[in-house]
Amino acid sequence: MGKKIFSGVQPTGNLHLGNYLGAIKNFVELNNDQENDCIFCVVDLHAITVKQDPKELRNNIRETVATFIASGIDSKKSIIFNQSTVPAHSEAAWILSCIARIGWLNRMTQFKEKAGKDKEKASVGLYSYPVLMAADILLYDASHVPVGEDQKQHLEICRDIAQKFNNDFNVENFFHIPEPLIQKEFSRIMSLKDGTKKMSKSELSDLSRINLTDDKDTIINKIKKAKTDSLPLPSKIEELDKRPEAKNLLQIYSSLNNSNLKKTIETFQGKNFSELKENLSQILVEKIEPISVEIKKLLSEKEYLDKILLEGHKKANSIASNKVKKMHEIIGF
Ligand code: TYM
Repeated sequence: MGKKIFSGVQPTGNLHLGNYLGAIKNFVELNNDQENDCIFCVVDLHAITVKQDPKELRNNIRETVATFIASGIDSKKSIIFNQSTVPAHSEAAWILSCIARIGWLNRMTQFKEKAGKDKEKASVGLYSYPVLMAADILLYDASHVPVGEDQKQHLEICRDIAQKFNNDFNVENFFHIPEPLIQKEFSRIMSLKDGTKKMSKSELSDLSRINLTDDKDTIINKIKKAKTDSLPLPSKIEELDKRPEAKNLLQIYSSLNNSNLKKTIETFQGKNFSELKENLSQILVEKIEPISVEIKKLLSEKEYLDKILLEGHKKANSIASNKVKKMHEIIGF
């Protein structure tokens, strides 16, 4: 039987190689399987948990859709929509925030990282972010949620919320309990400047990531400048634990090559970083540059992108408003 896939990406600009290898590449594969029903959401309500410039946000929403399409997601085979255009997400998030426990949210490491030292100044939305994410997933009875490793904890809380709602109201199976789909070796792509830090849109230095809009020369330059260590490349996976930069570059190469780390290590063992970097640049240019070119082309076709979102809105809205209506009945509204 096919899977019901749901996943979301924030329209906060600078979509990068981590987003692509950790999530979007997997979306494309799931979307290519005829058996699956896929829904991909541009999560603008999540984006505003930190301050956004309205004009940039509007552009970034279109850019996220363009990235989906340029990466190979077929808008005819999947629903692509913008979260804020489906009011059921906010409604369900409120209801589920009365189900979720403060103790559960207090354990979320992403909030701790994003809020930083001054938690008092973080938005309430940033804190309750995982509840909105649970609403996203549960409204569509998703069976599987493809995400990077950083979202694992949010998936766990989603499962807890679903279970508690089903138990509290004695409605077994009302919310489907979703499974995370996290790729084994490529679930956490690291910064090119520090192999112990996640590749991220918010990192100040642009040299820390490959953006999906980078052109050929930029990609080559960033790989040239990527941090390395002074030893030749190892012959055993275990040796990589102490060499985060080597591990990251080998992983990126493996993923783009649709291979695995073990095989990639066999190819490069005993060689210098320069050889790995040369091969890595080549495959990055081969795989990422066409996406970058296509994104730029699509961005000039605003009406086309808006049409995709409108079509997606109609379908998503119909599913989600129906589910929220049932939630109302169960609760006693
Ligand atoms: P966001 O927008 O931060 O990231 C989008 C996807 O990219 C993955 N990702 C990474 N994977 C590997 N290595 C990295 N360095 C890396 N950086 C980002 C993320 O894990 C994610 O899968 N909360 C979500 C969006 C969301 C969502 C949802 C996801 C909202 N509602 C419902 C699934 C289901 C987020 O902030 O993703």
